[in-house]
Amino acid sequence: MRDGQGLEVANADANAIEALDFLREEWLVFGKHLDRFVTAADTEEKCALLPVMAANLVLSMNSAEGRALGQRHLARAMTMTRSIGPREQAWIDATQAWVDGDSDRTLALHEKMVAQWPRDLLAGKLGQLHAFNMGDAEALLRIGEHLSAANPENHYAWGMHAFGLEECNRLDEAEAHARKAIGMQRRDPWAHHALAHCLEARGRLTEGVSFLESVSDTWEDCNSFMYTHNWWHLALFLIDLDRTDEALALFDGRVWGVAKEFSEDQINAISLLARLELHGVDVGARWSEVSPYLEQRLHDHFVPFLDLHYLYALARAGKQSAVTEMLASLEDRAERAKPFEREAWADCAVPAAHGLAAHARGDYAEAARLLGQAMPHLQPIGGSIAQRALFGAIHLDALIRSGWNDAAVKILQADERERPAVPFTKRALADLYRKLGRAEQAMTADYQAAQLARRYAP
Ligand SMILES: [Fe+2]
Repeated sequence: MRDGQGLEVANADANAIEALDFLREEWLVFGKHLDRFVTAADTEEKCALLPVMAANLVLSMNSAEGRALGQRHLARAMTMTRSIGPREQAWIDATQAWVDGDSDRTLALHEKMVAQWPRDLLAGKLGQLHAFNMGDAEALLRIGEHLSAANPENHYAWGMHAFGLEECNRLDEAEAHARKAIGMQRRDPWAHHALAHCLEARGRLTEGVSFLESVSDTWEDCNSFMYTHNWWHLALFLIDLDRTDEALALFDGRVWGVAKEFSEDQINAISLLARLELHGVDVGARWSEVSPYLEQRLHDHFVPFLDLHYLYALARAGKQSAVTEMLASLEDRAERAKPFEREAWADCAVPAAHGLAAHARGDYAEAARLLGQAMPHLQPIGGSIAQRALFGAIHLDALIRSGWNDAAVKILQADERERPAVPFTKRALADLYRKLGRAEQAMTADYQAAQLARRYAP
C-alpha cells in the first residue's frame, strides 16, 4: 500500500497507513496527540515502519527513558523485517545509528533517504533534527532544498526549507519561504518559527512581536516543545525591546510549566531566565524551580548544547555538588569523543561548561577566559544561531564585568551592525565608550538608545 505522500509501505493495511499519515501530519504541525501513534505502533504486528517511527519519536525526547523506549520499539521493528522494502531498511539503519549514538552516520543516512525519497517528509524532519543537533547548517539547508523541490504543494516543506536557509544566514530567501508556507496554511508553527528567526537575526523587534502575537492562537494545539519555544521567541523580542516584565510574565505563563520533565521545555526556560538576568532582571527563586528537573541529567550527554544549558541552570541554582559531578562527567564524555565530535565536546563544551560555572558564581575574569576559549568552536555543539547566542551573551557579560573593555566593544559593535535597533546594545556601548574615554561616541550611542526607547515606548 501507499501512504498519503504516495510512498510504498511494506506489509501495511489500511490502519497502518492511517496511523502513518496521522503521524506525519501531527509531527509536522507539532501536535499534542503523538502518543496516539505510539499506542497504534504498540499493537502493530506486521508493518515494521510503525515501531520504527515510534522509536524515532521517543528518541527525540533526549532522555535516558526515551533511549530505552526507542531501543524497545526498534527491537520490535526488527521482528517484522520479512519482505520489507529498501525504505523500511533505511529507516531501521538510521534509527539503529541514532540508538548507538552515532550522530554523523545517522545524519548521513537521513540525507541519503531524503535524496532517494524526497516525498518522505519525516525523513526530512528527522534529518533536519540531526543536522540541528550537530550545528550542521549546510545539511539543514540541503535537506530543506530536497523537500521543497519534491513537495512544492506542501507548506511544511517550505517551512523546513526556510529554517535551513535562515541557519545559513540567507535571511531574505528564508523569510520569503516562510511567508510562502504561512500564505499556504496559517497554522504552520514551524514556519512561524522560521520567520521569527529571520526577524530576530535582523533585530526587527516590533515586527517580531506583532507577527508572533498575530499567529499565537494557532499554537494552542501544539506540543510543549513548539508551544514553549515559539513563546520563548516572542520573549526574546520583548527583552530586546526592554519589555522585560512582559518577558518574565511569559516565562511564568507560557514557557515554564507545560511539561517540566521535557528537555526542550527545560532549555527554553533556562535560556529565558539567563537572558532576563543578563538584562538586569531579578528572577527570584525561579532557578530553584527548574533545577530539580535537571539533577537526573548530569550524565545525559545527548547534545552538548543541551548539557551546557543544564549545567548553567544548576550552577545558578547553587547546586554545587551536581555541578561538580556534571563537569567531571562532561570531561569524561569529551575524552571518549569520536574524531568528528571532538570540536564540540572537547574544544567547546568542556571549557564552556567551566566558564559558565565560573560566571554563575561571579568569577567573571575566569568566565571570560574560558568562554573566550570555547567561542570559536560553538557551532558544532548544536542548536540554532539564536539559541547559541546565549553563550555569546554570557561571554560578553563576563568580558564587561571583568573589564575587558576593548574585546567587549568589538563584540557589541558587530552586534550593532547586524541588529542596529536594539537599545540594550547602544546603552552597553555607551557605557564602554565612557570607560574608554571616548566621550563623543558615548554621547552618540546614548542619544541613539534614547531615540530607540522613544520609538518603542507604548
Ligand atoms: Fe528557534
